Amino acid sequence: MNSAQPYTDRTIIVTGGGSGIGQAIAVALGDVGARVVVAGRSEDKLQETVALLVGKGAEALAVPMNVRDPEAVQLMVDRAVERFGRVDGLVNNAAGNFICPGIDLSPNGWGAVVDTVLNGTFYCTRAVTRQMRAQGTGGAVLSVIASYAWHGHPGTVHSAAAKAGVLAMTRTLAVELAPMGIRLNCIAPGPTETEGAGAALWPTEEDRQRVLSSVPAGRFADPAEVADAALFLLDPRTSYLTGDVLTLDGGQWLGKKVYGVPTPG
Ligand code: HXC
Repeated sequence: MNSAQPYTDRTIIVTGGGSGIGQAIAVALGDVGARVVVAGRSEDKLQETVALLVGKGAEALAVPMNVRDPEAVQLMVDRAVERFGRVDGLVNNAAGNFICPGIDLSPNGWGAVVDTVLNGTFYCTRAVTRQMRAQGTGGAVLSVIASYAWHGHPGTVHSAAAKAGVLAMTRTLAVELAPMGIRLNCIAPGPTETEGAGAALWPTEEDRQRVLSSVPAGRFADPAEVADAALFLLDPRTSYLTGDVLTLDGGQWLGKKVYGVPTPG
């Protein structure tokens, strides 16, 4: 490994890399010299990310697929290896979400989110870590979760349960795979300024203001700052860091307001 340029010649797969946080992470990886594979359902969106990467001189590949399909996941990893010869990292970013009280959630609605977030993360992690084991090179897996994985939140029973499962999976596999030099971590971004999150979680201006008022830092996250944190966790220089979660939410979950306390200053 070249510690001055830790991403040079490393191949990293980003699921859901066609938009939002996934696209920001993919572009940031390209900026530091990684070869990037973006995987997701919409070929048009993936090609948009590839065009951004190629325009900056990075090597990139788009693989249209659905993380809910384990065979398609394996084919995606095979294509990455065929093109770049190896896989060094995976970002499990693909997600689906909508607000719905659990009592009114249909089995299909539950299944769509759990299949994407929990099963999809397992299928991708399994396929990529098997490739890393075959290479004997080690590697890093990063999964995007949310703080409601541990504190819960009304209206998110499918997503919260799935993301809690991803956190448990991360901690379990971190121990199993540490002897192979493969490490797994999570990142938990708070409300982030992306089209997908906005449409699913704060569809109206009133919703948006309510979410904003819940963040002590007083603003949404910029996808680029989430990407910076992702690069920190994927970087071989953090190779002793595994089974952990980095929360990046402007103090939102710790700052839950119950009593009326004046804001200092
Ligand atoms: C109630 C809904 C619904 C909604 C879908 N369903 N949307 N129920 N309210 N808004 C139900 C449907 O009625 C159906 O059940 C079942 O879910 C499947 O619906 P499909 O339309 O077939 O959707 P499908 O494509 O299979 O998957 C749904 C999805 C999808 C997973 C939500 O839209 C998706 O992949 N979206 C990706 C984009 C996205 O959601 N981004 C936001 C991520 S933000 P029935 O019973 O009617 O058949 C995020 C941030 C969290 O995760 C952290 C914040 C801090």
